Amino acid sequence: MRAWTLDNFGLENLNLREVDVPSPAPHEVLVKVSAVSLNYRDKALVDGIYAPEKMPKGLIPGADSAGTVAAVGRDVTKVAVGDRVTSHFYSTWQDGPWLPEYADFQLGGPLDGGLAEYQLLSEDSVVPTPPDMTDVEAATLPIAGLTPWFAMREYRNLKAGDSVLIQGTGGVSIFAIQLASAMGARIIVTSSSDEKLLRARELGATDTINYRTSPDWAGAVLELTDGAGVDVVLDVVGGDGLRNSVRAAKGNGLVAVIGFLDGQTTTLDLMDVIWHQTQIQGIAVGHRRSFNDLVRFLDKHAIHPVIDSVFPFEEAPRAYEKLAQGAFGKIVIEVA
Ligand SMILES: NC(=O)c1ccc[n+]([C@@H]2O[C@H](COP(=O)([O-])OP(=O)(O)OC[C@H]3O[C@@H](n4cnc5c(N)ncnc54)[C@H](OP(=O)(O)O)[C@@H]3O)[C@@H](O)[C@H]2O)c1
Repeated sequence: MRAWTLDNFGLENLNLREVDVPSPAPHEVLVKVSAVSLNYRDKALVDGIYAPEKMPKGLIPGADSAGTVAAVGRDVTKVAVGDRVTSHFYSTWQDGPWLPEYADFQLGGPLDGGLAEYQLLSEDSVVPTPPDMTDVEAATLPIAGLTPWFAMREYRNLKAGDSVLIQGTGGVSIFAIQLASAMGARIIVTSSSDEKLLRARELGATDTINYRTSPDWAGAVLELTDGAGVDVVLDVVGGDGLRNSVRAAKGNGLVAVIGFLDGQTTTLDLMDVIWHQTQIQGIAVGHRRSFNDLVRFLDKHAIHPVIDSVFPFEEAPRAYEKLAQGAFGKIVIEVA
């Protein structure tokens, strides 16, 4: 089969090769991959800034994939040949609290990902593809869909009338807008672009802030909420901006620490955290039970992912370059 392999860090070391089609061991399934979506982590991994010490040479990258089961190993009971499936990123995290050992079983590094014609997956690391979604759409769900869902549903159970602040218009954030809108929340979105903010409104954003022209976006959030702040902040930017996320949250509000676009370390004003009694919650995507819940929710609300662009398999490096330039929604590589 053809597979992209990361033979060293740097996009120039992502090579298209012929490798053997793997065969499924007990409890494993062989998936004919149709589509792979890219996340910021996939690019950070190629650049060598995402846990580089854990990445094997010759890794097949691509955390998120969707396709059809082509063969099953012995004792597989949960899926059958012909089923449409979507990969589950933390492949061994099924439910319950996070355990450190899950970290070594991330698809697309350290475990092989989906950027190949076939992918081996455990029967426990797939979920059924939502029936009304194409594989291109479904491939966007495992990280970008599950992460904001996990934060808003598992840690706060966001409901109608609650408010949420969403930063930017990348993959995670666009899903967050769609999900929060279906939950009936008030949605404040920040972006560097007025044009993207207009599109965010079409997806359900109720208030928008351009963080370039209004650098004190936390102040703007407080103004919009009569000084109260929001129930939930989805912080995908990280860095020192985290202190402003705390400012923008209500008393007892939840600040979900998701991303690190602006840096992996921060300085906080602890008095803000203490006085606001802020709940600062790290998020690492989510478990498979929650992913199944998400699939049902998407189906019920007929939500379809927002796809920025689709690249052919042979042009995978161009998809990574496009991600670096910024996208509205998701970038997908079509494999088959
Ligand atoms: N912890 C987890 O489980 C988890 C899961 C998924 C992603 N993440 C992390 O979350 C972050 C976003 O991931 P992604 O895949 O959604 O990335 P992405 O698709 O590349 O989106 C990035 C977007 O963030 C916005 N942005 C950048 N700098 C900003 C700033 N200073 N203030 C506000 N918005 C800013 C930009 O939106 P505009 O163009 O609109 O300005 C940009 O388009 C990454 O750090 C990623 O690693 C973490």
